Amino acid sequence: MEIKINNLEKYYGNRKVLDIESLIIEKGKITGITGPNGCGKTTLLNIIAGLDKEYIGNITYNGLNLNKEIADKMTIVFQKPYLFKRSVYENIEYPLKVRGIDKESRSKKVLDIVKKLEIEDLIEKKAHLLSGGESQKVALARALVFKPNLLLLDEPTSNIDPDAIEILEREILKFNEETNGTVIIVTHNLEQSKRLGHRIIEM
Ligand SMILES: Nc1ncnc2c1ncn2[C@@H]1O[C@H](COP(=O)(O)OP(=O)(O)OP(=O)(O)O)[C@@H](O)[C@H]1O
Ligand SMILES: [Mg+2]
Repeated sequence: MEIKINNLEKYYGNRKVLDIESLIIEKGKITGITGPNGCGKTTLLNIIAGLDKEYIGNITYNGLNLNKEIADKMTIVFQKPYLFKRSVYENIEYPLKVRGIDKESRSKKVLDIVKKLEIEDLIEKKAHLLSGGESQKVALARALVFKPNLLLLDEPTSNIDPDAIEILEREILKFNEETNGTVIIVTHNLEQSKRLGHRIIEM
């Protein structure tokens, strides 16, 4: 999905936190976004995700304004993921359920993604009891499982150990290559944005 941002301004009260004249996020590419704390990275992702509609300016998705069909094809993984008080399995299955995928295919897809991310051991656990890093892995699995056209990642590996980072980065790259899904990844890790990003934006 191609994102075009024009004359975007975002205010909290009368404080301007975003001012972007023009930005194009290329289709099928991984765009890394870096920048200091408080520069508006999360705010920008929330706006692109359609979660924050209080802004001035124009954003198009493949040339169209945001609608239900587009919203269904994108997802955001938050800095602090929110998981339901259910099993990890049910959490990862959820986006497939709401998209009307049948039970058997759901099960196949869930098992496939937990295997890829090497988190099979978490599947029966209660999601709200997971550690910070485990929650991030599950949140990424829940995002990748339905193969979105646009994947928005807000510091997805901030709580992850180095070995697991390697696994998650591998799967993010594979997702992009295999499905041609567009990825925006906010990260404080410059090395990570270099490893993953076709393009890096410094905010
Ligand atoms: N709901 C809100 N009300 C008022 N100000 C807010 C609100 N949310 C964020 N801000 C302010 O807007 C600015 C941008 O916040 P944002 O969370 O987008 O930063 P960020 O670049 O994601 O930072 P970090 O690297 O710490 O995650 C910050 O100064 C923050 O304090
Ligand atoms: Mg942030």
